Amino acid sequence: MCGIVGYIGNQEAVPVLLNGLAKLEYRGYDSAGISVYNDGICTIKAKGRLAMLSDKINGEGAVSSHMGIGHTRWATHGAPSDRNSHPHNSQSGKISVVHNGIIENYMELKAFLGENGYHFVSETDTEVVSQLFDFYYDGDPVGTLRKVIGKIRGAYALGIMCSDHPDSLLAVRKDSPLLVGLSKDGNYIASDIPALLEYTRDYYLLDDNEIVFLTKEGVTLYDLDGNQIQKDIFHVTWDIDAAEKGGYDYFMMKEIMEQPEALRKTLLPRMTEDGIRLEALSLTEEEIKNFNRIHIVACGSAWHAGIVGRYVMEEVSRIPVEVDIASEFRYRNPILSKNDLCIIISQSGETADTLAALREAKKQGVKVLSIVNVVGSSIARESDDVLYTWAGPEIAVATTKGYTTQLSMLYLVALHFAKVRGTIEEERLQECLQELRLLPKKTAEVLKLDGKMAELAKKYAQSEDVFIIGRGLDYAAAMEASLKLKEISYIHSEAYAAGELKHGTISLIEEGTLVIAIATQERLFEKLVSNVKEVKARGAKVIAITTQGGCAMEQVADEVIYLPKAADIFTSSYNVLPMQLFAYHTAVERGCDVDKPRNLAKSVTVE
Ligand code: AGP
Repeated sequence: MCGIVGYIGNQEAVPVLLNGLAKLEYRGYDSAGISVYNDGICTIKAKGRLAMLSDKINGEGAVSSHMGIGHTRWATHGAPSDRNSHPHNSQSGKISVVHNGIIENYMELKAFLGENGYHFVSETDTEVVSQLFDFYYDGDPVGTLRKVIGKIRGAYALGIMCSDHPDSLLAVRKDSPLLVGLSKDGNYIASDIPALLEYTRDYYLLDDNEIVFLTKEGVTLYDLDGNQIQKDIFHVTWDIDAAEKGGYDYFMMKEIMEQPEALRKTLLPRMTEDGIRLEALSLTEEEIKNFNRIHIVACGSAWHAGIVGRYVMEEVSRIPVEVDIASEFRYRNPILSKNDLCIIISQSGETADTLAALREAKKQGVKVLSIVNVVGSSIARESDDVLYTWAGPEIAVATTKGYTTQLSMLYLVALHFAKVRGTIEEERLQECLQELRLLPKKTAEVLKLDGKMAELAKKYAQSEDVFIIGRGLDYAAAMEASLKLKEISYIHSEAYAAGELKHGTISLIEEGTLVIAIATQERLFEKLVSNVKEVKARGAKVIAITTQGGCAMEQVADEVIYLPKAADIFTSSYNVLPMQLFAYHTAVERGCDVDKPRNLAKSVTVE
């Protein structure tokens, strides 16, 4: 996620801004910049690490100022570069803006401003905000900001400077965190508490649509109607380490809980009133109609997402899909044809085996569409098309929001292909789109199981072997669940197709063996009940995860975890969530380093 810092007060602004941005480095970024007021707006920005920015600032001669804004960018619209870095200024040079979030209607606004004589220098959505502010600016910064807010759609935390008002700063947030720091040496804005902890422990935690007008003497808050509002001061008692994790003990739990927001950011900008709008796909409708086969290739959790993607893609678009582990694909001399499509999935966009698989597909003349979380990563750059999961940086080695946002992108692609190929009825398409719109909210609902899963983890944390079974899409979820448990708690775990147990593995089930049965596929539910009976008969302890309320499963399983009902193809987004929580709490119970498990790296950039 990007980082924002702003300051106005008695101190030199540049050191405060750079220091604050440095405290936000953990959030991940690929470029940075600041604007300060010194007889006009002075903006310095650079691609790369903060050190590059500092060198550039020192190289241009230290700038003395008592007011400014700063930003570390995690690229979403437009690859990492100097000109795409924030702050973004209006062409008049009077307005400078830093922004976290996504302006969903930036293309429409860019066209409107272009018709009104504005020219753009970056590929970003953020530049639209500074130009639009300039367009509406009438000498009243707060009134101008209210007009701007009335025109932009999406998620935003904004810090704004106006050179006509060098003694004040403006800020506002909607669906993207922003807070105000209060101190005797001046006042601050930041996207997260760690940026300001060394200056103050007193904050206004802004709510959506609260406009902030800061001077060095004080802070005034307004609602969208321009009425002044009062807020309580939040006094922070955290230390810096806890603050970076948003108050959670580990980044993994922070990222588990960020999934509703990550899904909203990934899905909603790509959904219109009644359809899907995938940005800038070079794939033509003709090509989509002519696909004979799709190869989904990835590693680890991304491969598990691919297995879910196969079920969904074949179900709605009727295109045959093969799913390969990248390290196998690249060496099995795959037979590809010109009417194939290769879908590459990778959170980091740097996994060596996955990149090699991409190159193999391209060598055989096959188009590559990639689903990636890191903008401008190697896999993104070498793909013909890339769809970014705007999940923000994922710090914990064990992926959570990276995985569920990959699933959401696969749903969108499958539905888009089905629509183009005419393999889905309009009514069913609308039902699916409505389900996707509800995904963030229902995900938040399921995450309320955290306490229950912590209780179960405490009970079963000393298990030596855990078997996770499921059928169809639930089997894919079982694979991801098993990997989560293995990689952070170090418990031996196996995912098994429930129908396969009787062909050998059931011999391993003995008194007290923990079996987790994922049973969310309505049409396969009764079969799972039978499989649970089979393992119970051998002494297993069974935790069942299902959507079927008040059901036969309660008669056979030791614990039943209920999920919200959803169409079979969408349950994969929910059935993995309790297992993320179970794996997390099990690892904590076992005293493991949840964010940095032994032997593992966040991105496997070697074979
Ligand atoms: C998942 O929790 C693991 N960190 C690992 O399996 C990961 O999914 C795999 O290494 C692929 O990484 P990528 O998505 O960055 O390519």
